[in-house]
Amino acid sequence: MSVDLKGVRALVTGAGSGIGKAIARRLAAGGCRVAATDVQEDRVSEVARTIRDEGGDALAIRADVAKQEDVDRMTAQTVSAFGGLDVVINNAGVGSAAFIESVQDSEIERVFGVNLVGVIRVTRAATPHLKNSGRGRIVNIASVEGIRGSGLLPVYSATKAGVIGMTRANAVELARFGVTVNAVCPGPIQTEMLSPLLANERYHEKLIKGVPMRRLGVPEDVAGAVAFFASEESSFITGNVLVIDGGMTVKAL
Ligand SMILES: NC(=O)c1ccc[n+]([C@@H]2O[C@H](COP(=O)([O-])OP(=O)(O)OC[C@H]3O[C@@H](n4cnc5c(N)ncnc54)[C@H](O)[C@@H]3O)[C@@H](O)[C@H]2O)c1
Repeated sequence: MSVDLKGVRALVTGAGSGIGKAIARRLAAGGCRVAATDVQEDRVSEVARTIRDEGGDALAIRADVAKQEDVDRMTAQTVSAFGGLDVVINNAGVGSAAFIESVQDSEIERVFGVNLVGVIRVTRAATPHLKNSGRGRIVNIASVEGIRGSGLLPVYSATKAGVIGMTRANAVELARFGVTVNAVCPGPIQTEMLSPLLANERYHEKLIKGVPMRRLGVPEDVAGAVAFFASEESSFITGNVLVIDGGMTVKAL
């Protein structure tokens, strides 16, 4: 499916690699002007360069979503470059694997700071601009781990469940301004975030066995759905949580 996003002004966080990179490229291919932002400056500059080489329109901004001053600067820079903002993709995130009894305070703060507080900060900064847009869109990258339970991921799961809660709350609040707010919940997607877990061959095999489609997802599996939520095609869809997992969460055994 190819959606028309001509002239739509978008900001993607965590666009330096994996799912965020695929989303930035997909939006640009549909005609978006994309602010590709990431805490890793070299990577996001490379992504913006790739998009421009592919004929798209992109600028790179280094920003840490856990820092309010970075979020403010990133938002102001995007609005000034594009003359406004129509779409925000809250994608930046970090993994965290530790059972509840061993999780450290520093880990709780780090993961919440990026995965949940970061999403709240970016959304808060972008909302006035999205209201002005008349066709505002927020797409939050949550996770199947925000819906189901994995004993190894209590902190990560809590942040993603929080993102789902915030998606629904903001969907209700912003609907009258023409702003839709939706979330996607990817299952296991082959990116750097997953690579430490995939390094364990037994875990890798077990993971694939749990997916009825018998494969891991690739970032492009997520990017297409995000482009749909960013487009006019989804203008009456808000507060939705779309699972993208090859059937993993509906499998009985
Ligand atoms: N890979 C999966 O299996 C999977 C599954 C479900 C959800 N997700 C979610 O998808 C999103 C993207 O993850 P990914 O798999 O592409 O991982 P990734 O590690 O490849 O990419 C994450 C990107 O976010 C950036 N980032 C990290 N902290 C940041 C910060 N404080 N400010 C700005 N940017 C920051 C990183 O530099 C990196 O470029 C995350 O929110 C993740 O939780 C991933």
